[in-house]
Amino acid sequence: MKALVIGSGGREHTLAWSLLQSPRITEVFCVPGNGGTARLPHCRNLAMAPNDFEGIARFALVNNLELVVVGPEQPLAEGIADYLQDQGLKVFGPCQAGAQIEASKAWAKALMTEARIPTAQAEVFDTESAALAYLEQQGVPIVVKANGLAAGKGVTVAHTLAEAVEAVTEVFSGKFGEADSQVVIEDFMTGQEASVLAVTDGQTIVPLMPAQDHKAIGEGDTGPNTGGMGAYAPTPVMTPDMMARVQSEVLEPAIATLRSRGIDYRGVLYAGLMITPAGEPKVVEFNCRFGDPETQAVLPLLETPLDTVMLACIGGQLDALELQWKPGAAACVVVAAEGYPDRYPKGMEIVGLDAAAETGALVFQAGTRLKGDSVVADGGRVLGVTGLGDTVEAAIANAYAAIDKICFENMYYRRDIGYRVKDGV
Ligand code: GLY
Repeated sequence: MKALVIGSGGREHTLAWSLLQSPRITEVFCVPGNGGTARLPHCRNLAMAPNDFEGIARFALVNNLELVVVGPEQPLAEGIADYLQDQGLKVFGPCQAGAQIEASKAWAKALMTEARIPTAQAEVFDTESAALAYLEQQGVPIVVKANGLAAGKGVTVAHTLAEAVEAVTEVFSGKFGEADSQVVIEDFMTGQEASVLAVTDGQTIVPLMPAQDHKAIGEGDTGPNTGGMGAYAPTPVMTPDMMARVQSEVLEPAIATLRSRGIDYRGVLYAGLMITPAGEPKVVEFNCRFGDPETQAVLPLLETPLDTVMLACIGGQLDALELQWKPGAAACVVVAAEGYPDRYPKGMEIVGLDAAAETGALVFQAGTRLKGDSVVADGGRVLGVTGLGDTVEAAIANAYAAIDKICFENMYYRRDIGYRVKDGV
């Protein structure tokens, strides 16, 4: 069986790799993929854009592809799943109406209110003046979110009024393109964040192994937020009791409410959670896709073939499937180009990838491309190095041992991924 993965990040390299672990998958195509997917055995990159719906459909139909997996949120928000399904293809990823859960923060908040899902209190504003007046009244700390997709840059956790005002002004200045029409201002929450990625066929929803990621660029979770600098699974903060609460208080109500709105949501529903000091799970955000880099830590632990899971979601048979997991833990450390998430250089040659893989780690490539026989950096987040082990601590140590073999100019990574587990905090 042949499959196609849309996207070019570390998540997509992981999806392609994971699909190829299945005995049924013979070949995977990536649109457009990266240096890692170009070198993956039985995998081929296609020089097409993720928004070339027509070209992707034509290729998939002519080559009898039996599964299309959409990695990033942007094509989902643009309706790629609807388009490809209408062409008769099997697509893993929600319809455009469902993808609003990530594409519009205001829409997601309204859904959470209707579903009585625990989340921070929030208000939505269409004008800058009304938003600024609300900020004055609420004070800080406070969270300012651009309503639409903003490539991970639309959320500001403001600790001063000046920061909050600047964030609101930025949103209404058009900095985030279509994200500028509305702003969501919500109460600041404290606690530990966790990521529960769940798969669903629109009726049944099943959580994957819970993960925790580190969004901030700097050690000690300091500095600006990024797409994620490292992740590990499982995370001790998500105890079996907490997972049961997330299932009944978050995941099931979300799917039931989507269904009541006539939305047949099939794919991943990613609940970004805050576990408050009082032990309450509250939703920070929903995403309509796999997390990056959480995927690099979660999928290597999945024993059930990924295509089986995805086809059960597409076919509405998830209730008949019991997910199997490998024992142990995984930790992914993201290796970035110095300067990310702002300006960073590209084109540096990466050496030591084979030596890193020989340690037993999984080296997933993100912002890379091939240049002749070399792999060169081509993005902010360059690699995701996943270590495996009996425990999270062992997995973290194995990830760092593999990174020690890798070198490129301006290489940057956090040395404290998983510190909460290691330090018991
Ligand atoms: N790691 C955060 C995200 O995928 O949105």
